[in-house]
Amino acid sequence: MITSLWHLKDKGLVQRSVTLLNIKLIRFRCFFWSCSFASLYFKTVKHLEPFRLSLEKLKVVSTRLRKDMIRGLGKHTHHRAAVKMLPTFVRATPDGTEKGDFLALDLGGTNFRVLHVRVMEEEQKMVKMDSQLCAIPQEIMLGTGEQLFDHIAACLSEFLDSQNLKGQTLPMGFTFSFPCEQKEIDKSILIRWTKGFNCSGVEGEDVVKLLKEAIHRRGDYDISSVAMVNDTVGTMMSCGYRDQTCEIGMIIGTGTNACYMEEMKNVKRVEGEDGQMCINTEWGGFGDDGSLEDILTEFDKVVDRTSINPGVHTFEKMISGMYLGEIVRLVLMKLTEKKLLFKGEVSEALRTKETFETKFISMIEDGLENAKKILTELGLTWDLVDARVVRLVCETISSRSARLCAAALATIVDRIRVNRGLPHLKTTVGVDGTVYKKHPKMQPSMHFLTPDCKIKFLVSEDGSGKGAAMVTAVAQRLALQSRLLEESDGEEDEEEKVRS
Ligand code: BGC
Repeated sequence: MITSLWHLKDKGLVQRSVTLLNIKLIRFRCFFWSCSFASLYFKTVKHLEPFRLSLEKLKVVSTRLRKDMIRGLGKHTHHRAAVKMLPTFVRATPDGTEKGDFLALDLGGTNFRVLHVRVMEEEQKMVKMDSQLCAIPQEIMLGTGEQLFDHIAACLSEFLDSQNLKGQTLPMGFTFSFPCEQKEIDKSILIRWTKGFNCSGVEGEDVVKLLKEAIHRRGDYDISSVAMVNDTVGTMMSCGYRDQTCEIGMIIGTGTNACYMEEMKNVKRVEGEDGQMCINTEWGGFGDDGSLEDILTEFDKVVDRTSINPGVHTFEKMISGMYLGEIVRLVLMKLTEKKLLFKGEVSEALRTKETFETKFISMIEDGLENAKKILTELGLTWDLVDARVVRLVCETISSRSARLCAAALATIVDRIRVNRGLPHLKTTVGVDGTVYKKHPKMQPSMHFLTPDCKIKFLVSEDGSGKGAAMVTAVAQRLALQSRLLEESDGEEDEEEKVRS
């Protein structure tokens, strides 16, 4: 048909006809493309349905978490609670008068960091003087505890050497981002490993003791006091130095968790009724008792079954960076098997566990060009419909993660409001974690879940590192204050004697 048109004498007419034909072809293609996308879209949506959580469902999840939090705080219910609600012995947030030089250790992901932090009272700021990063190879993550702590002690030794700090004994904050039963600020028993770590001989042991033993084994330096901190607490404390209304810390990174300031009278496992204490909720464990069975999808179950810690941290596995990419990969596999993607052809890469990285999700949501590049790198033969369907899958999985986090955070914020008997609460949440920072949807619009609370989010700058220093600084300030009080008590006695 196109060649016959070229025989026409009138060139203008030919051109006009060709243009018209092209437009028709484009329209037809668009129509055909929209039809095929629409049909695939509806079939895909059906498979994604279990990931969509209505507002009603989120409220149900929130109510369950509220009950689990109370169970976790209770003296007699704690031992079987899935949400552990661990006392941190951090009793105050910063008041701006903290100061001094500190060392901070940070272990929680695939790297270990040592930092030298200076807290400056006059300028109300924390300055990272220097820091060093040491990778934790997989064989150490899965080796013995002794190997892990020797590796940490060696890295610390190198840093102290490079900073000429070996002669000094600076107070140290240790951010250890795993669930620990804290007995005191410097005694912390690991309950269980999460996030890909599984070193033998550490669960049930005091982590500070293991660190000190490793340092003694070396014998080339010593440390003074150590304050143990969870990364959520570090985040809350570092944000709290900038904004003193910050009383919640939240992490959405490799793992997920939150902490908040709870009234002491509700912390039944710690003596004392007055004041507040920061509670590390360990909300990642929510659902470990089966309470989230109704929202778990077949994909979540596979992720859990094939993880190194099956049955542990159910909620975390639906939300955090360590698992989101794998959930997407499993869904893509299923859609391909159903011939809804890539003409039914799976590539070797897509078939391989953990090849779809969590960072691909936000990249794909950012633009179809990224999707095309990533799909090509994964060895897949794709068309535009495939790219759009993959984007839809990514959006669905990340939305679920954001909505679950929002529901959990709403539960905490509302608990603080009720604790204080307030009709409305205005509060600040310190946040950290790559998933939160890289993904726009993660900055949750919370209003629909907590109409009575106004929440400000403050992104932490290096909360795990600087926060550990801040916890140590606050602990020092409080120790100093109580020492002053005791001393002045003594003076009063003396004064009494002098008077009488
Ligand atoms: C750990 C928490 C930690 C969170 C974020 C979880 O796996 O259990 O202690 O706060 O990850 O790093």
